Amino acid sequence: MLLNLEKISKSFNIPGSDRVITVLNDLDLMLEGGKTTAIFGPSGSGKSTLLNIISALDRPTSGKINFNNSDLTTYDDNALSDFRNKQIGIVFQQHHLLPQLNLLENILLPTLPDVSRASIEAKRERAMKLLNRVGLTERIFHYPSELSGGEKQRCAVVRALINTPSLLLADEPTGSLDQNAAVGLIDLLLELNSEEQVAMIFVTHDEPLMKSVSDKYRLISGELVKL
Ligand SMILES: Nc1ncnc2c1ncn2[C@@H]1O[C@H](COP(=O)(O)OP(=O)(O)OP(=O)(O)O)[C@@H](O)[C@H]1O
Ligand SMILES: [Mg+2]
Repeated sequence: MLLNLEKISKSFNIPGSDRVITVLNDLDLMLEGGKTTAIFGPSGSGKSTLLNIISALDRPTSGKINFNNSDLTTYDDNALSDFRNKQIGIVFQQHHLLPQLNLLENILLPTLPDVSRASIEAKRERAMKLLNRVGLTERIFHYPSELSGGEKQRCAVVRALINTPSLLLADEPTGSLDQNAAVGLIDLLLELNSEEQVAMIFVTHDEPLMKSVSDKYRLISGELVKL
């Protein structure tokens, strides 16, 4: 099992009051390596909160997160950053590319913590291979402002994959795209799932877009209901 969430709860304090809201409530989720999962749910149901916890950007209020049989809730902040950099790729609704860097530089950013010469060369080669795979070879020296929305998201996908993560998280990756570009991006992600042997979790409002994932869930009242 790649990922096993056990009884995850997450509450937030409401600023200026002593009330808390509970967004995730004893939630369980299992994901095998290389598989794909889609999570649907209305706005405010806690989908992004759940992804933030899986990617260790945020900690749960209670519960256990087993990743490859290690319990992430026992890691300190440095260990969590290292875990995230090596094991997790994230694609957001907006591309989050840095405007002052060209595409190749944006993609190589997550490789900076590893400074060995051999690694730098291997990562550059991998960047070129992935950029070719998503049809952006001719764009490597362009800046994000010079690309279409779909091209920026494809670049964000390459950046998420550059360190060969075992899990890619996509939080409404098509949210800023028109229908054609959205379908193209999902097809590309599903192809990369098998080519790269990387497990994926998609979060979306758009149920029809997710035809061929291994598992589907709806997030309701802080829990996942299998569809
Ligand atoms: N840091 C925070 N502090 C307080 N409340 C928060 C915080 N982060 C999220 N929430 C609340 O938790 C709930 C779930 O938010 P979340 O962003 O996870 O929803 P979502 O399902 O991703 O919604 P959307 O589909 O609109 O992106 C919301 O009510 C939100 O206001
Ligand atoms: Mg969200």
